[in-house]
Amino acid sequence: MKKPVKNNVYWVGKTDWELKKFHGEELSTHHGSSYNSYLIMEEKNVLIDTVWSPFEKEFVENLEKEIDLKKIDFIVCNHGEVDHSGALNKLMEKIPSTPIYCSANAVKSLQGQYFKNWDLRPLKTGDTIDIGNGKQLVFVEMRMLHWPDSMACYLTKDNILFSNDAFGQHYACDHLFNDSADQCTLYAEAEKYYANILAPFSAILKRKLEEIQSLNLDIDMIAPSHGVIWRDNPMQIVEKYRLWCDNYQENLITIVYDTMWNGTRALAEKIAEGIREKDESVNIRIFNLPKSDMNDVATQIFKSKLVLLGSPTVNNCALHSLAALTHYIKGLKLKNKKAAAFGCYGWSGESVKILNEMLTDAGFEVINDGFKCLWNPDYETLQKAADFGKEIA
Ligand code: FEO
Repeated sequence: MKKPVKNNVYWVGKTDWELKKFHGEELSTHHGSSYNSYLIMEEKNVLIDTVWSPFEKEFVENLEKEIDLKKIDFIVCNHGEVDHSGALNKLMEKIPSTPIYCSANAVKSLQGQYFKNWDLRPLKTGDTIDIGNGKQLVFVEMRMLHWPDSMACYLTKDNILFSNDAFGQHYACDHLFNDSADQCTLYAEAEKYYANILAPFSAILKRKLEEIQSLNLDIDMIAPSHGVIWRDNPMQIVEKYRLWCDNYQENLITIVYDTMWNGTRALAEKIAEGIREKDESVNIRIFNLPKSDMNDVATQIFKSKLVLLGSPTVNNCALHSLAALTHYIKGLKLKNKKAAAFGCYGWSGESVKILNEMLTDAGFEVINDGFKCLWNPDYETLQKAADFGKEIA
């Protein structure tokens, strides 16, 4: 059933309570997600985005209960990724000649994924379409936020920005609006979404936020394509994005380690004690990496001013979990992060040097040579690890 958003705008999307992984297995979604599709019923009827393909059948069946599909004047496809375009196939079987407005890059991405002869009509920033009753849709390309084809549109008079992925959250919520949602979950998911999906494009986002600000749009609501709609003080999430896209860091140190026989774990905890002894104000997070969710770890790293990586040496290398993490973090293109490494060894002892190389390659500023411990840390070595923590702090 459609849910009212504002005046003649309705939510007709799908809440996915079961979703635990997104982008294949790459991104954890502990709180599910939603695929937000919006139906505007003015003199012209407009559908903005659809839902992920596994839900195409129920999406089209539900939509048919709300509107005669032939009365949809046009569809806006803000982004070609399958979680939003995935029901187009099913829908277009019913209304094959309905125009689909999208960015020029989305013409390519839709054709490249679906191989159909749909009536795709490219738009560029500043283009407008009248939908009657004095209202217009105004389009803004959001190139590389986070695909080349991404676009947003703004509904005048109702002052709703349909932002697609930007400002979204992977958060299945029984409430439609931010003011009714659990605030801790909402912000944690918005932050994780930014850190893991949008962080690589922070520089572009910074310029785009300035561009949108220069348009002087009155924004009463921001309606993203995932999660809840920002109705109460919608600019609060824009302000957060302004912070997150600008070399973001908090007074936080994240310690991430892998360990075979707990020697490196003991170092991690002692280094944390040393940091705490020196600085009571700093927040510290400690993760045993293979026992943790990599996207949650990455979110904490995104928020950190400094990261410590620990691994024992095995087969002249570090443990492989650290390689996966630094590879992932490299892709996020985080800026303004310091780092250091630590680890135990029994004979060859390369892990700290290798971790330093991985950290440098991932874009961190490595601040020292790191801390190595031969065999298990004894009392004296643990004191030295604490001193290392103090020095870091
Ligand atoms: Fe939610 Fe980039 O798709």
